[in-house]
Amino acid sequence: MRIGSVALESPLAIAPMAGMTDTAFRRLVKRHGGCGLVVTEMVSAEGLVRGIDRTLEYAEYTHEERPIAIQIFGGDPEKMAAAAQIVEGMGADIVDINMGCPVPKIAKHNAGCSLMREPAHAAAIVGAMAKAVKIPVTVKMRAGWNDEDRNAPALARMVQDAGAAAIAVHGRTAAQSYTGSADWDLIARIADDLTIPVFGSGDCIEPEQIVDRLRAGVEGVLVGRGVLRNPWILAQARDLAEGRPARVVTAEQRGQFLLDYIDLLERERIDEARAGTHDRFVVNKLRALNSWYTKGLENGSHLRVAINSAGSVAALRALISGFFDVSFRGEFCADAQV
Ligand SMILES: Cc1cc2nc3c(=O)[nH]c(=O)nc-3n(C[C@H](O)[C@H](O)[C@H](O)COP(=O)(O)O)c2cc1C
Repeated sequence: MRIGSVALESPLAIAPMAGMTDTAFRRLVKRHGGCGLVVTEMVSAEGLVRGIDRTLEYAEYTHEERPIAIQIFGGDPEKMAAAAQIVEGMGADIVDINMGCPVPKIAKHNAGCSLMREPAHAAAIVGAMAKAVKIPVTVKMRAGWNDEDRNAPALARMVQDAGAAAIAVHGRTAAQSYTGSADWDLIARIADDLTIPVFGSGDCIEPEQIVDRLRAGVEGVLVGRGVLRNPWILAQARDLAEGRPARVVTAEQRGQFLLDYIDLLERERIDEARAGTHDRFVVNKLRALNSWYTKGLENGSHLRVAINSAGSVAALRALISGFFDVSFRGEFCADAQV
C-alpha cells in the first residue's frame, strides 16, 4: 500500500503511544517483521518551532525505522505548517497530526481531539501543512469528541479534501477515553467513503483480530497496546494473513526482548539534567513497558512487582534473565527475525 508517495511493505503499523513508543522500542518491533510503518510519540509543534531540546528528543528516529511518521500536535495553522517543515527537514517520511488526544492539558490548547470540535479549523490546519511540505500529511483522529458528536465521518471527508494523504481513526470518542470498545463499524464506513487509505485503531490484542479487521475493509491497522503486550503481534498477524500459523514466541525470546530493549536504551543519548542518571532513565522505561508487557503472562504480576522494585539496570537484567530463563546474551533470537 502507499501513503501518497511513500510505499509501505505492510499495512500494519505501531500506533503512536506517548511515553512508550520511543525509537528503541520501535526498532525492536520493526526487527521482528510485519510492521510497515512506525509513528513517533506525539511532539509539540510549538516545541519544534522553538527548538526545545526535549521536543526534538521525542522526534528522534533511526534509519532502520523507515518509513517513519513524526506525529505533531498543536492548534495554530501557521505554527503547524512551520513544524511540518521542520519535520520534513528532519528527513521524516510522513508528518502526522494528532487529532485524537483527549488529555485536558493538550485539549485546552485547542489541540489533540479538541480540534474535532472545530472541523473547519482542523481542515485549515491540514491545508496549511499540505501546502507547506512535499511529504504526505496524515491525520489521526477519534470517532468524535463525545457520543453526541461522533463526527469522524464528516471530518475525515474534510481533511481528505484539504490534502490529507491518509487518516487513522481510533474508534472511541474523547469522552470515552479508553472505556468501552472501539467502533469498527464506524471506521469501516469511513474507509468505504474515502479515496485515501484509512487505518483503523482500537482493541487489537490478538493477531487474529488484526487480520479480521483488515478483511473487514480498512486499508491498514494501527496496533497500540497489543504491541506493548506482545511485540511479535504484527509479525504473527502477517503470518496468518499469508496463510502460515502464527509464530510461537518462547519465554526466552520474551526475556531477550527486554534485555535488548535495555541495551538499546543504554546507548540512547539523554539529557541527564532532566531525566536523572542514565540508570534511572532505563529503569523508568522498563517499568513503563512492564505494566503492559507482563499482562497475560504466567506469573506476570510477580515480574511486574519485581521490576517495579528493581533499583538498577544490573538488578533488572538479573531478574529478567532469571524470570524468563534467558541463558544467553545474543543480539536477537535468529528465528525471531523475518
Ligand atoms: C499509553 C498510550 C499513549 C498514547 N499516546 C498517543 C499519542 O501520542 N498519539 C496518538 O495519536 N495516540 C496515542 N495513543 C492512542 C493509540 O495510538 C491508539 O489509538 C489507542 O491506544 C487505541 O489502540 P489500541 O487499542 O491498539 O491500543 C496512546 C495510547 C496509549 C495506551
